Amino acid sequence: MNQVVATTELNTVFEECLILKQELIDGLCAKEKYINPKFFYDEMGSQLFEKIMQLPEYYPSRTEMSLLEKYKHEIAEALGENIVLIEPGAGNCEKVQCILQTLKPKCYMPIDISAGFLFECARKLQTKFPFIKIHAVADDMKAKVEIPDAFKNNNKVIFYPGSTIGNYKPNEALDFLEHVKDLVGKGGGLLIGVDLQKDKEILDAAYNDEHGITALFNLNALKHANKLLDCKIDTNLFEHVAFYNEDQCRIEMHLESKTEHAYNIDNVSRVCFSEFERIHTEYSYKYTIESFSNMAEKAGLKLEKYWIDDNELFSVQYYKVG
Ligand code: AVI
Repeated sequence: MNQVVATTELNTVFEECLILKQELIDGLCAKEKYINPKFFYDEMGSQLFEKIMQLPEYYPSRTEMSLLEKYKHEIAEALGENIVLIEPGAGNCEKVQCILQTLKPKCYMPIDISAGFLFECARKLQTKFPFIKIHAVADDMKAKVEIPDAFKNNNKVIFYPGSTIGNYKPNEALDFLEHVKDLVGKGGGLLIGVDLQKDKEILDAAYNDEHGITALFNLNALKHANKLLDCKIDTNLFEHVAFYNEDQCRIEMHLESKTEHAYNIDNVSRVCFSEFERIHTEYSYKYTIESFSNMAEKAGLKLEKYWIDDNELFSVQYYKVG
């Protein structure tokens, strides 16, 4: 019986791997080449992102943390008592710790795809916050979350920090917000970190840091693709390009080929790069309070309260199902 389960799991992993490979091939063979930003985050990419968050130029992480710390009492008051707090893509559950003590939810549900790491973080959190039920779920963000029976009738709030929403195209962001609304239902809410539109110089600097960490992070998407596809695209022949597109209100990240070169992939596909050709790797949309709340309203979420820093760099916003 165990053997059957193990074989089924192996098949699923194998199928998922094939899907990822095909996704990469489709992107690299497309007329306008792209790599989905999820390919940034292998072990090396996650370490590089940790470093990005410490960079002086990269203001979002520290500004959001200081907002959560400064306004935790107001946030707790807005969200109310006895809630179930759900965090998709919780990672190391670091940000939430800023507000857990003050918020005192009945139950905190971190959700993340990497099970081992998640359960270890959840175990540590449970020791630190014995009065909160920590219920970790190893799944992807779109999963249908099963609330433990004991808390089914409590109000649910999704916590989505980090301006991760900015990495979704506007139609995807709207889908996500609609999913949130359906998940939390009546009486539920969303506490979300949203990066704000600002001077181009500040934004350009945040994605072109002096030490080149963001460049390494960007190039790592291609290194990761090489590993998954078992091919040898020469990453030295690409340059990191990142800029704020003011018309579209988004940072665009690309990898630009310095010269002409070509590769066979998977014995079937041939990928050719011409000089200056770009692979698109990421968008990071920036919003105003108004533009974001308009989109949330379309998804059925009503802005209750928001908090911004003195320099108007970043916002934490609270929505209720309206
Ligand atoms: C994860 N995400 C919110 C980051 C951002 O700012 O869009 C990813 C990132 N890309 C380059 N630097 C940081």
